[in-house]
Amino acid sequence: MQFEKLDPRFLERINQIYSKPDLEIVKSGFETKKRNTTFRVNTIKSSNENEEKYLNSLWISFEKIGFLSNAYKINALNWYRVANLRWFISWEFYLQWITSQIPVELMDINEWMTVLDVSAAPGWKTSQICSKLNNTWKVVANELNTIRREKLKATIKKQWCTNVEIIWIDARELWKKYKNETFDSILFDAPCSAEWRINLNEEKIWPSWDEENIKKNAKLQKEILDFIIPLLKKWGELIYSTCTLAPEENEEIVDYILSNFKDFEVQKISLDYMFSRPWITKFNWKKYNSEITNCLRILPNIESEWFFVAKFKKI
Ligand SMILES: C[S@@+](CC[C@H](N)C(=O)[O-])C[C@H]1O[C@@H](n2cnc3c(N)ncnc32)[C@H](O)[C@@H]1O
Repeated sequence: MQFEKLDPRFLERINQIYSKPDLEIVKSGFETKKRNTTFRVNTIKSSNENEEKYLNSLWISFEKIGFLSNAYKINALNWYRVANLRWFISWEFYLQWITSQIPVELMDINEWMTVLDVSAAPGWKTSQICSKLNNTWKVVANELNTIRREKLKATIKKQWCTNVEIIWIDARELWKKYKNETFDSILFDAPCSAEWRINLNEEKIWPSWDEENIKKNAKLQKEILDFIIPLLKKWGELIYSTCTLAPEENEEIVDYILSNFKDFEVQKISLDYMFSRPWITKFNWKKYNSEITNCLRILPNIESEWFFVAKFKKI
């Protein structure tokens, strides 16, 4: 199709990142017009069992996503029916990509823990954390952008999340508010160059791609990490995720953490999903720490958006 119309430098990078067989999957991901609709059951308000019963009563066919606790897929054409349902309006389930549910799914959190969501708006993952904690103890959700912060507030309210404190400071200044070793678990779903948005059917998005933006984001990600890592307790976990393909914002960041924070180790992520791959160990002239292969890359594909997740433990 029009794959060759994408920026030649972008294509060169994609060719470096993916193997030949995977490239075919990647291309189809960029060409996909309409994916299935996926959602997450808000367990604060309902249960998988309730939602399944309800969809069955409406003769809407659905598929449970095996590797996620509360995720379902329905045909996009059915979406207009679901969107009108009393249940959707009352936020018993929440539209959320399959892949965007992975970072929180991987968090080992329980009701006694204090969790920091470093860059939280519009609140997909904050509300998932609250659901997972069943609204117990505490989630601190931070967001710098004023407009997005209002969206975060709305999500939290609609989904009945009652254990969240919303704050708004530049993540590089969180250390001014919190002492070292305050949090048991930190999610850093980083601001990134968002290459997931590149779709061949939406021409207004992809001409704006450029490598400078990647560099700018990578710099910001490292700066934020420098300031949030000390806030994590010993034995605590850090989840790092992005929705971009660029190794500078993924592998290079993990490499940066491993080189600069000697008390951090990468945890192996195993996910039974046909589009998951380990992270790559070299890009351009750079070679990364071999432990990086423990992290998870989801290929661009026809079924789900792509995503990148790394999980660390502070030892
Ligand atoms: C990938 S989005 C987060 C998505 C969110 N975790 C979710 O699942 O709904 C990254 C967010 O980081 C915010 N951000 C950018 N720079 C920031 C900074 N210096 N401090 C805090 N947040 C920042 C952006 O406004 C954006 O909302």
